[in-house]
Amino acid sequence: MQYPLIKIVDLAKKYDNDGVITKVLSNINLEIKKGEFVAIMGPSGSGKSTLMHILGFLDRLTSGKYYFNGKDSSDLNDDQLAEIRNEKVGFVFQSFNLLPKTSVYENVKLPLTYDEHERIKNYNYAVKAAIRAVGLYERMDNLSNQLSGGEKQRVAIARALVTEPEIIFADEPTGNLDSKSGNQIMEILQALNESGKTIILVTHEKYTADHAGRIIRILDGTIAGDFVVEQRLFAKNSNDLIK
Ligand SMILES: Nc1ncnc2c1ncn2[C@@H]1O[C@H](COP(=O)(O)OP(=O)(O)OP(=O)(O)O)[C@@H](O)[C@H]1O
Ligand SMILES: [Mg+2]
Repeated sequence: MQYPLIKIVDLAKKYDNDGVITKVLSNINLEIKKGEFVAIMGPSGSGKSTLMHILGFLDRLTSGKYYFNGKDSSDLNDDQLAEIRNEKVGFVFQSFNLLPKTSVYENVKLPLTYDEHERIKNYNYAVKAAIRAVGLYERMDNLSNQLSGGEKQRVAIARALVTEPEIIFADEPTGNLDSKSGNQIMEILQALNESGKTIILVTHEKYTADHAGRIIRILDGTIAGDFVVEQRLFAKNSNDLIK
């Protein structure tokens, strides 16, 4: 039997800051299969980033269960979580988070510094392949501050790809971009999905979410809807980008 990549049972999350309790997520039940492209939507403060951080092992759930690839990951210690984070997931954030005054190549190579198990055999090849996949091969030696916002986000995607993760998480990756650059980012994510990568995206914009195959709506910390996207927007240029 094949397990879902992600299975969440009765997840709840609350923050405790010096006794001040903030309940953020409750009653979340969710399955995501390998190869899906899921968009998480919902109002500001509804808990989208918190959910994504838990799914991506950046944060812990308070109660409930998280099965990743069929294995219970709810009780992993910090070292085990760091290992999963380094090997299984890649993150793309709204604000790019690149190293300034550092080349595209060095930015993309960075996660391989933590490749303790040396899963990636040839770093140079992996870095160049990831940069090529986002269409920036010619810009490899440019410094990150010499790039446009859209190009920076493409570097961030390459950096997320270089460790060959099972899932790419993208938290409002188009939030700081004009619509043309935003579309390019969505086309790259969609092309990656078409080549088999599982993608989980947070967005405010319906037209961005329509690139995904499924939309999950979060309202006040619970799942208020879970839909198949009937008229999915398809990427025009995906075949040119992913080779
Ligand atoms: N460390 C924390 N301590 C206390 N409360 C927190 C903490 N992190 C987030 N929250 C609260 O949890 C709620 C959900 O936050 P979250 O960042 O997940 O929302 P979001 O849906 O991603 O919003 P946005 O669309 O604005 O990014 C908010 O009310 C926020 O203030
Ligand atoms: Mg958020």
